[in-house]
Amino acid sequence: MQITPDFSLKNHNTFGIDAKAEFFVSVQTVEELTHALNLPGYSQKFILGGGSNMLLKKNIKGLVINLNLKGITVEEEDENHVWLRAAAGENWHEFVMYCVGNNYGGVENLALIPGNVGTSPVQNIGAYGVELKDSFESCEVVDRTTLETRTLSKAACNFGYRDSIFKNEDKGRYIITSVLFKLTKRDHELRTSYGAIQQTLDALGIDEPTLVDIANAVIYIRQQKLPDPKKIGNSGSFFKNPVVARNYLGTIQKNHPDAPFYEMGDDLVKIPAGWLIERAGFKGKRFGQAGVHDRQALVLVNHGGATGDEVWKVALEVQQAVQKEFGILLQPEVNIIE
Ligand code: EPU
Repeated sequence: MQITPDFSLKNHNTFGIDAKAEFFVSVQTVEELTHALNLPGYSQKFILGGGSNMLLKKNIKGLVINLNLKGITVEEEDENHVWLRAAAGENWHEFVMYCVGNNYGGVENLALIPGNVGTSPVQNIGAYGVELKDSFESCEVVDRTTLETRTLSKAACNFGYRDSIFKNEDKGRYIITSVLFKLTKRDHELRTSYGAIQQTLDALGIDEPTLVDIANAVIYIRQQKLPDPKKIGNSGSFFKNPVVARNYLGTIQKNHPDAPFYEMGDDLVKIPAGWLIERAGFKGKRFGQAGVHDRQALVLVNHGGATGDEVWKVALEVQQAVQKEFGILLQPEVNIIE
């Protein structure tokens, strides 16, 4: 376990922001993690997973602990299901490809989402009609208040749309060290109706898709719209899709009869923030090295060398413009580190 001072985090956040850690250490086991948490003399300890859902607005003081725990193991299986445990430091997409390659169903629609397994429950990652919670069974955590390990059930995590206890009442308390998934071994529940999945499968002439086919369709669709963080820094959707009262949608539709929306029940609808941002005139807009992606306006990008503050400025511009045009205050989905 080597502690490096003045360490650039550029390769540890998908926005590619060149912020620095005062000290940096990478841990590979739960024991190393608790050891690092016990080290005296640091002003704070900052836990870093895949760095795929954060905007670093400044350097990080104290010790940055990078979770690099690896391993995927079958914990239990029966005729129909497998219970698979993946360590927090496993790359999410590689985990998905491991699952589809072994014909384990449940996460195939979540292909190509950046980040690591250990951070996937924090915001209950989701795409194409599937959320992490659908195959999540439990997770192992280290409780920072006691340094003890615990198991948290799905119910205890209180998952919601891009939401969980890890973002709310227990923010900062638990460090997720592994996740247990319950996946199907046969009679997979294929979800192809959302978005362009079915269309893509049809175009490829696939009538009876396998899990691999679905993952490939998702990869294809995502690559059309979403920038590859290895080429253009980004954190996926920067804002959440806002949920508003149906009446309010009516007001918006007076000026914008084509406004897209999803039914949420209880007289609530969700409006795609990407559409609001595009209509506010920000799609593809560039402010120096930071900007709004030209193919999906919900994604803010670092064209190279932007600072966290520069990206944040774009976020504020977008927020103000959407508020002015639609009276809706967009809420960031990414964690702003300041
Ligand atoms: N739209 C526009 N202009 C844009 C972007 C979108 O008009 O620039 C419209 C589209 O035409 C469509 C609607 O908005 O009618 C929805 O767009 P899309 O299918 O791209 O999905 P989204 O609601 O923008 C959400 C997730 C994505 C996820 C996709 C697909 C959130 C905040 N984002 O985006 O998640 O991949 O659905 O399921 O819920 C992420 O969280 O990082 C992420 C990429």
